[in-house]
Order: sequence, then C-alpha cells, then structure tokens
Amino acid sequence: MKNTIIAPSILAADFANLQRDIEMINTSEADWFHLDVMDGVFVPNISFGMPVIKSIASHAKKPLDVHLMIVDPDRYIKTFAELGANILSVHYEACTHLHRTLQGIKAEGMQAGVAINPHTNVSLLEDTIEDIDLICMMSVNPGFGGQSFIENTFKKVEKLRKIIDANGAATKIEIDGGVTNKNARQLVEAGADVLVAGSYVFGSNDPIKTIRDLKEVKVN
Ligand code: DX5
Ligand code: ZN
Repeated sequence: MKNTIIAPSILAADFANLQRDIEMINTSEADWFHLDVMDGVFVPNISFGMPVIKSIASHAKKPLDVHLMIVDPDRYIKTFAELGANILSVHYEACTHLHRTLQGIKAEGMQAGVAINPHTNVSLLEDTIEDIDLICMMSVNPGFGGQSFIENTFKKVEKLRKIIDANGAATKIEIDGGVTNKNARQLVEAGADVLVAGSYVFGSNDPIKTIRDLKEVKVN
C-alpha cells in the first residue's frame, strides 16, 4: 500500500495566527509544510519571504517543502538552505540552465524539485528525470490559492508516471492547486505521491480531520 504524502500550503493559513496554524500541522497527520514564495514577477502576486520562513522553520516539526515562484532562483538557493528548507522546487519556466540549478540545490544539502506550469509538457523533464527528487505539477496557474483544479492534470500525471517508471527514477510527483476530496483519489491512482492542499485544509471546519481524510487516500 502506497502512503500518500500530504503537504498543507501555508499560503492559506491565518498569518495573524501563524503559530497556531503551524502547531495544527505539527499535531496533524500532515507530512510536510508547503511554503509558496512569490516574487510578483514570475507570478502576478507577492506572498512571503525570508523572515516569515525563518519564523516558520523555528516552530515546524516537519520538513519544509519550499516552492519558489520567482525568476532567477539560483540567486537564493544558499539562502533557502540556511533558512531550513528541506526540499527546494524551482520553476522549469524560470530556469535557463535547469540541470545546473538542480545540482546547486543538492550541493546545499536539499532535495531538488522542479515545478511545471499547466502548459508545460511533462516530456520536457525526461532528460533530467534522474536528477529530480520531486516534480511539483501545477494543477492551477501559479500565483494564487483557492483556484479551480485543471482537469487535464490527471492525464499529465499518468504520462509523467510512465516516464519516471520507464527510467527507473525515484522522482516523486506532487500535485499543487485545487486539491480536494473530489480529485485526491483519482490523482493518487494516476500516480501522484504528494498532495498539496491550501484552501481545502485551512478553509475547512476541522483541518485536522480534513488532513486525515486526505491521508487516507491510498492505492495498492
Ligand atoms: C499556487 C500555490 C499553491 C497554493 C495551493 O500558486 O503554489 O501551493 O497555495 O492552494 P489551493 O490548495 O488553495 O489551491
Ligand atoms: Zn505551491
């Protein structure tokens, strides 16, 4: 039985009660903290940056999965390692020398992730697949929480799963955007390993239970 990794997105937390929401994730069955960094250039929104991540890191008892939605991410690899990121994902569309960037992330002791926009074909990752620990497949256009899931994602997950397996790679597939109980099972069945959920978790009456319900989505 495959165990699904659940990564609540802090973007949907209450920033005035951040410690409370961090403790909620610490005590829940969630596996990772998903942290969305936006620069207002790569995406049309600005989220949070280094000081906030430093504070989160000092309370979080689970790995930090940092999703950089920024241009020229190479400039900040070392900084995010020092802040305590365990997994660092850069956008395929923001990297001219992706292979070099991935090696740079690993050289700082982090797992290397690549995020892809909904329009980016998964086959573009085939030649670097063995260097990628995590592929963050965007199931919405990046920049905002609370958007509707793009249905074409199911097909993309199946295609990417085939590429990973055919190459004997250990790359994990993470789905990011619009994840709810309505699509979670089909995503895991298609080959997803990690589910990010922001508004579905933090907008629910009982986030601990919502996380547990997502965690129970398993396939043989
Ligand atoms: C979107 C971010 C997501 C977002 C997901 O650009 O990368 O991680 O927080 O939020 P929901 O689950 O609300 O779509
Ligand atoms: Zn994200």
